[in-house]
Amino acid sequence: MGWTIEHVPDQSGRTALVTGASAGIGFETARVLAARGAHVVLACRDAERGRAAAERIDGSTEVVPLDLASLTSVRQAAGIVRERHRRLDLLVNNAGVMFPSYRRTEDGFETHLGVNHLGHFALTGLLIGLMTSVPGSRVVTVASLAHRIGFGRLDEGAARSLTGRRSMTAYGRSKLANLLFARELQHRLAVAGAATVSVAAHPGLSPTALWHGDPPAPARPLAAAGMRWLAQPVEAAALPSLRAAVDPAVRGDAYLGPSERFGGRGAPEPARSSRAARSKAGRGRLWTLSEKLTGVRYACEPSAPEASTSVTEAAPAPAVMGCPVRGGRI
Ligand SMILES: NC(=O)c1ccc[n+]([C@@H]2O[C@H](COP(=O)([O-])OP(=O)(O)OC[C@H]3O[C@@H](n4cnc5c(N)ncnc54)[C@H](OP(=O)(O)O)[C@@H]3O)[C@@H](O)[C@H]2O)c1
Repeated sequence: MGWTIEHVPDQSGRTALVTGASAGIGFETARVLAARGAHVVLACRDAERGRAAAERIDGSTEVVPLDLASLTSVRQAAGIVRERHRRLDLLVNNAGVMFPSYRRTEDGFETHLGVNHLGHFALTGLLIGLMTSVPGSRVVTVASLAHRIGFGRLDEGAARSLTGRRSMTAYGRSKLANLLFARELQHRLAVAGAATVSVAAHPGLSPTALWHGDPPAPARPLAAAGMRWLAQPVEAAALPSLRAAVDPAVRGDAYLGPSERFGGRGAPEPARSSRAARSKAGRGRLWTLSEKLTGVRYACEPSAPEASTSVTEAAPAPAVMGCPVRGGRI
């Protein structure tokens, strides 16, 4: 039998933040972590929905308003967390949109890339100072099988352009960005000698509200057929994120996903990513672009001040020769 909820170790004394914890996979991730004793910060776009979610969770929680479509909101949320907490053990970058009704984020970014990647890039950078000295701390970024169809450029033009925004590739591109981000973050954390590792996960397919967006006509029958054959309940879809967050055997740079039916369902195991997702040049370019677009630079050093919002960047790429980055295994 594969890894199940029974394998989640005791999380007492740990603090976790889950984005998009009001519903779907994020709610389930938060619910299990709290049930195992973690204090869970539910970072939710709609605070009311966040409070309703908290009421359904048996454990220690708090709600922090976070709209990833607004860098102002991201900064405010990070400020609240830094004010309330001296350390963070787990950051689960889970929230996501697919075919959203609104086109651009408050800061003028195409919404898939703006919410799914840039908002999380900024949030992580603003919170990483609470994590780098904490043994066993992890950043988990939730990607998707769809990263494989994230074709096209990942540059400033693409980040602001609405061309093709309703194609599946726009969502796929944001999920490719999630994977490139997770890998580059792991690289930088390792170079800086931080106690934190960065890992990625994907849930396979699950019939959550993510699919209630406004998909282009050709994607609808495909999605319906895929759901029937591949999908798994949300409880199972949360297991890759949970395993990535808490399994002591998981190492930095790992990528976990369901093991059956082309990754659509099944127990969480190491998953394969596309060649584009493994591109060192691609992840470096995305990082530079993300810093430019969000104005957030990372403080990865373990000695970095806790409440710092924009301090030094981790050592540049050449140091990778001596850094203990571990490739894709758990
Ligand atoms: N379900 C799948 O088949 C599937 C497949 C591959 C990958 N994924 C990934 O899994 C993750 C979770 O998705 P899900 O299936 O659980 O979808 P979901 O049920 O729609 O949940 C998405 C969550 O993200 C939140 N969110 C959306 N926009 C936000 C914003 N601007 N700021 C902050 N939070 C925001 C939502 O908040 P509200 O409640 O306020 O809307 C909700 O809590 C996503 O990253 C998604 O890409 C899902």
